[in-house]
Amino acid sequence: MKHFAKILILIMVLLPGFTPVYAAEKVDNKNTEMVVVNASKMSAVPKVQTSPVPNIPKPVVLKPFTLPASPVKVTPSYASGVVVKRAISAAELTAMREAAVANAPKTTVANLQEAFNGESNAYVRYLAFAQKADAEGYGKAASLFRAAAMAERVHLERHAKIIKKLGAHPVARMEPPNVKTTAENLESAFKGETYESTVMYPGFLALAEKEGNEDAVDAFEDAQAAEAVHAALYKSAIDHLKAWKTGRNDFYVCPGCGHVVEKLNFQECPICGTDKGKFLTAK
Ligand SMILES: [Fe+2]
Ligand SMILES: [Fe+2]
Repeated sequence: MKHFAKILILIMVLLPGFTPVYAAEKVDNKNTEMVVVNASKMSAVPKVQTSPVPNIPKPVVLKPFTLPASPVKVTPSYASGVVVKRAISAAELTAMREAAVANAPKTTVANLQEAFNGESNAYVRYLAFAQKADAEGYGKAASLFRAAAMAERVHLERHAKIIKKLGAHPVARMEPPNVKTTAENLESAFKGETYESTVMYPGFLALAEKEGNEDAVDAFEDAQAAEAVHAALYKSAIDHLKAWKTGRNDFYVCPGCGHVVEKLNFQECPICGTDKGKFLTAK
């Protein structure tokens, strides 16, 4: 019986066009039986569900700060003629670096870099906040975070274009998003948008106007107006959070300036004039 089984396998494998088989031989002292499983009858492997990977801006790594080979302070001792060397502490070095950064003359290209960095991080942070809001059942808040992420992407791409036009390379220091509860995430998003629309962009705008950089003036003006609207939308979500515990909600995003609206009740974007037909939909 055992030999018969082996011969049977050999014949089956050698037959032309024979479907591949998985064969197993179960052995016991009294009986030997063949178990043949036809591969074509095996149940199909379920397809792995994948969700679309957000197109995250390429993090650009800053060149490491190069310290002098031997950071030392040299204190000459005239009395003895001996030079005393003292290593600079890490705290002193940090203070020196911070002072250098604070005293560095601000330029529009530096402001564009700062804006590009802020928008790149906001983009990634809002996508993470959207995931959290979905997990907590705040479908509408999740949609708003996705719409705002889309808008920040409009801003960062516009800033990057101007930075390149000015002959520089856009640089972002990407930080991992600090995700908390949706209520807290909305608060932090509201604060960020308020800072950008009332402090950061107005300051950048003033200098760009002084420098006569029209591209930057337009970009900063549009971003400032769009961020003010984002702040108002976040405030509305904070004030009516329970009502935002719904399914997903459509928001529309202007591809020109990042303006976010719930209804397209206009023909052209009130901030930048883009036709409403070109608005992107965030779900
Ligand atoms: Fe924003
Ligand atoms: Fe717009």
